[in-house]
Amino acid sequence: MRIAPSVLSADLGDLDRAVALAVEGGADLLHVDVMDGHFVPNLSFGIPVIEALRRRTEMELDVHLMVSNPDRLLDRYIAAGASWVSVHWEATTHLQRLVVRIRELGARAGVALNPATPVEVLTDVLGDLDFVLLMSVNPGFSGQAFLPSSFPKAVRLRELIRAGSFEVEIEMDGGLGRNNIAEAAHNGVQVAVAGSEVYGQDDPVAAIRRLHALASGERLAAAEGRA
Ligand code: DX5
Ligand code: ZN
Repeated sequence: MRIAPSVLSADLGDLDRAVALAVEGGADLLHVDVMDGHFVPNLSFGIPVIEALRRRTEMELDVHLMVSNPDRLLDRYIAAGASWVSVHWEATTHLQRLVVRIRELGARAGVALNPATPVEVLTDVLGDLDFVLLMSVNPGFSGQAFLPSSFPKAVRLRELIRAGSFEVEIEMDGGLGRNNIAEAAHNGVQVAVAGSEVYGQDDPVAAIRRLHALASGERLAAAEGRA
């Protein structure tokens, strides 16, 4: 499983440290939450912060666009350094055109689904996607409780992907941590976003290593020992 620490939970006054901790812990991607105060109630950061992160690391930046009209600045997010881009199904009308455009611009294309949106809405667009981001909390804030209905959704999505022989990865975002990461892996989650479980801990490096270990089947005690 790939682990994607979410910068939203890091000390935003010290991006160097946020990046260094992710690299040292062996993170696979850096998750970057863009919020516009319209699609979601919260505001976070945008293109200048993506550029700042890009200058600091070669790590792939997984940019999660929680914005209305994601097509408006799409080119600029990718030019700023986004390697993976997810747009919300709920935020756009012409989804297929948008995801094709993401790929044309050289990034991996993803669609994010809110907890109340069924995976079946993606049936006819899966062939144009590289990944699907299943929100396991309502988007807008880190540190929220995991919604258990997310695992059955991952299983149903896996069935849709298999039925069409698509190559689409399943990412999950929100409320993931040491207590549910193994179950996430078991339910087919291939990329796990972790905000407070990484940057909210005293030792974020150990936290990333522990998540990797638990996802690959180690027991918590053993994973704690390695971390
Ligand atoms: C929530 C964001 C998440 C958030 C996850 O809207 O999309 O990426 O940072 O934070 P945790 O892991 O604390 O739920
Ligand atoms: Zn996110």
